[in-house]
Amino acid sequence: MKIVFASNNDHKISEIKNILGDSLILLSLKDLNIYEEIPEEEPDLEGNALSKARYVHKITGMNVFADDTGLEIDALGGMPGVRSARFAGGNKDFSANIDKVLSMLGSEVNRKARFRTVIALIYNNIEYLFEGIVEGNIIHARRGNQGFGYDPVFIPEGKNRTFAEMDLSEKNSLSHRARALEKLSLFLLQITEADNK
Ligand code: IMP
Repeated sequence: MKIVFASNNDHKISEIKNILGDSLILLSLKDLNIYEEIPEEEPDLEGNALSKARYVHKITGMNVFADDTGLEIDALGGMPGVRSARFAGGNKDFSANIDKVLSMLGSEVNRKARFRTVIALIYNNIEYLFEGIVEGNIIHARRGNQGFGYDPVFIPEGKNRTFAEMDLSEKNSLSHRARALEKLSLFLLQITEADNK
């Protein structure tokens, strides 16, 4: 089955291909020659994921899914949350975003945080939502140089290395996006089997 992933983020596309394997033919926006920036202006992750999926579904008419992720830090009242990409300004600067989080946290001892991913799927014109969460802690200074975004300062619960110190398959064995994608792929497997009966 062909399905569109409404993103042009190469990191995410390779993470998702690694998780979904050969079970689906994944098309990115680039594969469909869609290069425009899709607006992400909703007040929550669910709203943003749905609006991206609806936008691409309207253009292509194809089955499509979109994701939105936020880093929710308890001591910052859930910030940066839905504003994670542009926390330090409009240019989505990963390094500036980390600097801002570290400076707002300062010497705070409660460093509990979670990554939360919401995936919106439009399949045969019906909308579905899937969620994946990984709990963890924000450390005081960057460690590691793999991954992207806030990976260098996030240690998932039960581990002692940041996401940026893990290779892709280790990150994918526990990440928020992987957990949401597992739910999505299970659902697609069941629904396509039912459709083929
Ligand atoms: P998006 O909605 O998936 O584009 O994510 C919004 C922002 O959250 C990104 O710009 C990153 O700063 C951050 N983010 C999303 N996923 C990850 C991840 O797997 N690791 C670290 N940061 C992430």
